[in-house]
Amino acid sequence: MIDQHFAGDAACASCHPKQAAAQRRSGHSRTAVAMSDSDFATELLAGQPYPDSRRPQTFEFTSHSNRFMVRDVDDPGLPALPATWLLGSGTHAQTPIFVDQQAQRGVEMRWSFLANRDGIGLTPEHEKFDQYEAKSLQCYGRPMDAGDVRSCLGCHTTVGPPAQLPIQNDLYVANVGCERCHGPRKQHALLAHQGRGEESKPLVQYASAEAYIDACAQCHRDESSVSPTAQPHELVRFQPYGLKRSRCYLESPDKLTCSTCHDPHDTVSHDRTVYIQQCQQCHQSGHDSLCTANPQGDCIDCHMPATEWTAGIAFHDHEIRIHEALAPKHSTPQVKP
Ligand code: HEC
Ligand code: HEC
Ligand code: HEC
Ligand code: HEC
Ligand code: HEC
Ligand code: HEC
Ligand code: HEC
Repeated sequence: MIDQHFAGDAACASCHPKQAAAQRRSGHSRTAVAMSDSDFATELLAGQPYPDSRRPQTFEFTSHSNRFMVRDVDDPGLPALPATWLLGSGTHAQTPIFVDQQAQRGVEMRWSFLANRDGIGLTPEHEKFDQYEAKSLQCYGRPMDAGDVRSCLGCHTTVGPPAQLPIQNDLYVANVGCERCHGPRKQHALLAHQGRGEESKPLVQYASAEAYIDACAQCHRDESSVSPTAQPHELVRFQPYGLKRSRCYLESPDKLTCSTCHDPHDTVSHDRTVYIQQCQQCHQSGHDSLCTANPQGDCIDCHMPATEWTAGIAFHDHEIRIHEALAPKHSTPQVKP
């Protein structure tokens, strides 16, 4: 099924070099890799065993017939476990998972690559799992059922086995490739080679700003997919959630999407002057309101500040607003007539 309809990123590059080059820069092109093929695996195999910072365990890494294996040196009775996939580009982190095709379950490993340590450390949020049951999958991390495994891989790959088929590692097309957003395009690529690309034009026109953001929210998450118990510092990871709560979005109907500020193909730019210009497209005299505090300053620092999620990993809060800590104490919420 997948072979029949999907052409793969390489098939698009010759005719769309600009998007292909941008995509290679983006984390989207590196959201999932076979653990045994990763640089992280090479580093771990060359290094020392890793003592867990919070549990009486020491993990040792080996390679057996191209399978990357981990075992607990302090518990020789425990069988070694393979790490199947490494998820994440490493901008912030990369976390290995074990996918057991036979039992249709998996484990999110307790150790990850952390960019801010430039090496191995505790997987973010795994301080919740300090307690574990001996001789169980919990020794290696957080056990996952089939649904958990499918959702992990579903957001980090282009396409995988449909729900009625069992999880099978080699049926996943790794990374968020062109066809994740543009749909299966083998037909388009074939026709385009005969000069008939126009006849099978991929869909990129979203019906509305909301439909556009929904496409990104499948993975980046909005109010329909965030946990109801999530704390504010956890919600900053979810850009669609934040943006859709902003007055900028709510009060400029059908105008503001992720593309207003980002090229969806490219890695995130850190060029603040460009972002400021995007704000000023709307916030200029004769249009939307002007800043009453510091209209010459860096809007992002005050209205979309970087906020720590956990373990020193920060995201920019996409709920664009006046942050209480900055607002003058005398001000009261203003209701416009
Ligand atoms: C042989 C050349 C060729 C290949 C290969 C090719 N395309 Fe295209 N593509 C075209 C042409 C020609 C157009 C129409 C150009 C236009 O609309 O200006 C097009 C248009 C597009 C558009 C814009 C459509 C629109 O509605 O404006 C997208 C998106 C796209 N291609 C994606 C892809 C993807 C994804 C792949 C790989 C699976 C791919 N293309 C492979 C030639 C190609
Ligand atoms: C609902 C979709 C979704 C699910 C499910 C999901 N992820 Fe992600 N993951 C994302 C998105 C989106 C990002 C990018 C976060 C950002 O930069 O805003 C991400 C980022 C990451 C990163 C950090 C990458 C980096 O360096 O920035 C890691 C590691 C990761 N995910 C691992 C996992 C693992 C392991 C699972 C399963 C237990 C999982 N993810 C499940 C969507 C998802
Ligand atoms: C994360 C989703 C996503 C991925 C992955 C993606 N695109 Fe796009 N693409 C879009 C969106 C959304 C648009 C609509 C224009 C915009 O928002 O800038 C677009 C527009 C296009 C266009 C029309 C011209 C343009 O730039 O506006 C082409 C051609 C295209 N994409 C090709 C590709 C190719 C080739 C790849 C893989 C190398 C790819 N896209 C990967 C989301 C994506
Ligand atoms: C299939 C899931 C998925 C979809 C759909 C998706 N993303 Fe992503 N996106 C991710 C993951 C996973 C990451 C984390 C990449 C990494 O590991 O660094 C990410 C990262 C990003 C980044 C940071 C890239 C970088 O290198 O700085 C941007 C920007 C982004 N996504 C924008 C978008 C936009 C805009 C859309 C909608 C047009 C979209 N994404 C749709 C999964 C997705
Ligand atoms: C598509 C147009 C648009 C863009 C782009 C835009 N805004 Fe807005 N923004 C609005 C509208 C409309 C409002 C509500 C009415 C008003 O203030 O004029 C608003 C309101 C605000 C508010 C007041 C929020 C509150 O809770 O009272 C702030 C602060 C703000 N924007 C900052 C920014 C910053 C910073 C950027 C760039 C990162 C930005 N905006 C980009 C349209 C936009
Ligand atoms: C009004 C402008 C604006 C809009 C709209 C916007 N972003 Fe951003 N985004 C930013 C800024 C500014 C940064 C931080 C750039 C930097 O690092 O300097 C950022 C950073 C990011 C990052 C990197 C992680 C982080 O939080 O620092 C991702 C991923 C991302 N945006 C995704 C999205 C998605 C998905 C959408 C649509 C739902 C979106 N953005 C809409 C301005 C915007
Ligand atoms: C030093 C921090 C800071 C910077 C930089 C800054 N702002 Fe503000 N902004 C504030 C504060 C604080 C308020 C609330 C002022 C008040 O309540 O009197 C505010 C208010 C606003 C408002 C609401 C105005 C109203 O009439 O209610 C908008 C819109 C806005 N800022 C946009 C921007 C834009 C766009 C930029 C960049 C060009 C920017 N801000 C730069 C701190 C900042």
